[in-house]
This record gives sequence, C-alpha cells and structure tokens, in this order.
Amino acid sequence: MISSPQQEAVDAAIESRRSIRAFLDKDVAREDIERILEVAARAPSGTNTQPWRVYVLTGPARNALSDAILATNADPDQARAHTEEYAYYPREWVSPYIDRRRKVGWDLYSLLGLTRENKEGMAAQHARNYAFFDAPVGLIFTIDRVMEQGSWLDYGMFLQNIMVAARARGLDTCPQAAFTQYHRIIAAQLGLPANEMVVCGMALGWADPDRVENTLVTEREPITGFTTFLEQA
Ligand SMILES: Cc1cc2nc3c(=O)[nH]c(=O)nc-3n(C[C@H](O)[C@H](O)[C@H](O)COP(=O)(O)O)c2cc1C
Repeated sequence: MISSPQQEAVDAAIESRRSIRAFLDKDVAREDIERILEVAARAPSGTNTQPWRVYVLTGPARNALSDAILATNADPDQARAHTEEYAYYPREWVSPYIDRRRKVGWDLYSLLGLTRENKEGMAAQHARNYAFFDAPVGLIFTIDRVMEQGSWLDYGMFLQNIMVAARARGLDTCPQAAFTQYHRIIAAQLGLPANEMVVCGMALGWADPDRVENTLVTEREPITGFTTFLEQA
C-alpha cells in the first residue's frame, strides 16, 4: 500500500481521537472553533439537508448550564424527574454490546482507583460530564424534531468531523450523551425553540496530559469481527 503525507495525516487525526475526560484551563480561540465547525459542516447529509444546529458555550454561559445541571444532578429525587427524550442505548442489553460497555466502564473506573462498591466515587465521575470535564468549550447539539432517523446518520458524520478536525489542531473532545437526561434544563438555559431536540453535548479543549483518565485507550474488534468479504456469487 502506498502511503502519502495526506493519508498519514488523515489516519493520524482519526486514530489519535480518544474521549478525553480532563482538560486544561486553557482557552480555545474563537477562530479555531469557527473553522472546526466550518470544516465539520462539509459532512454529507441526505439531499444536503444539513440537520445540525450547534450551541457553543464558553465562559459564564458554559458555567451557568453546568451549575444548573449539577445542582439538579446532585439531588437523586430531582435527578429522577429528568429522563432522556430519545433512547441512545438499547432497552435490552445483550452480548457482545453489554460486555464492551462493562469493559470500558471498569477500565475507566479502575484507572481512577474506583471500586465497584464506591458508588459515590462513580457518581462523582459521572457528574464531571456536566462540567464538560472542565473543558473551556461546551457544545450542545440539537436537531429539528421534524427530522427522521436518516438525519441522525448525517448528524453522526458531522459530530465525527468536529472531533477529527479538532485533533488536526491538537485539540481534544469527548462526545457526551449524558446531557440528554437534562434536556429540559438545557432547553430552558439556552432558550431552545420547541422544535429543537437535544442530540448530545461535547467537551472541546486541550487534554490534560497528566490526568490518569486520559490514558485510557479503548479496544476495537479486529475487522474480521465485523466484516464479511463476499467474492463469489
Ligand atoms: C454519541 C456519544 C455519546 C457519548 N457519551 C458519553 C458521555 O456522556 N460521557 C462519557 O464519558 N463518554 C461518552 N462517550 C464516549 C464513549 O464512551 C467512547 O467513545 C467509547 O468508550 C470509545 O472510546 P474512545 O472515544 O476513547 O475511542 C460517548 C460517545 C459517543 C459517540
């Protein structure tokens, strides 16, 4: 296989992306955020519908959303009153998905020195989602409720483009479904119109290289595990 600098750069941007869960207290330039979104919006979408809408939260806006969610999340009774609007995960977990889910969870918690019994520690780690893991930029993504399943495919491509374009600039991300539980708080804080549904959030910033949670490298199935080559009729 012939390799070119362009191929190496693209592969490196994709392969160096990992979900980062601790960020440095260092701003991201507005021009970089704008350019990342501009690049990401080159994502394909069915009949060029471009179903994405992004809210970029920095400074007091980011803090206000985090504070509002964290206050509710800290009280189990209040938290229970908030539920997701759409099912991101299967209602019934089966193998191999449940095994992978458990593995990544325990890999992260054991890096952090959290045991199964330490429910409080795990809850505190989960709560860090709502502080965008201290990233200077919090992104909230919404979709128009009229859009159907196909547009969610387009949306995934857009999200991945953001994460890869961020890597190309030395920036890191963590996509965050955790925000969907608190879509009502997000809608109120951001003044979302009624037709917009929260898809997910994303932390964007500079990875803290000294934090143990950022050393997590997740596994992948070899391609033989998910690919079938058909050569004969
Ligand atoms: C749409 C989406 C939502 C996710 N939501 C969360 C989240 O709320 N919190 C979190 O810590 N990680 C979240 N993740 C990160 C996954 O756990 C992670 O992608 C997976 O374990 C693979 O690890 P990697 O991203 O480091 O390759 C999410 C990933 C995706 C694609």
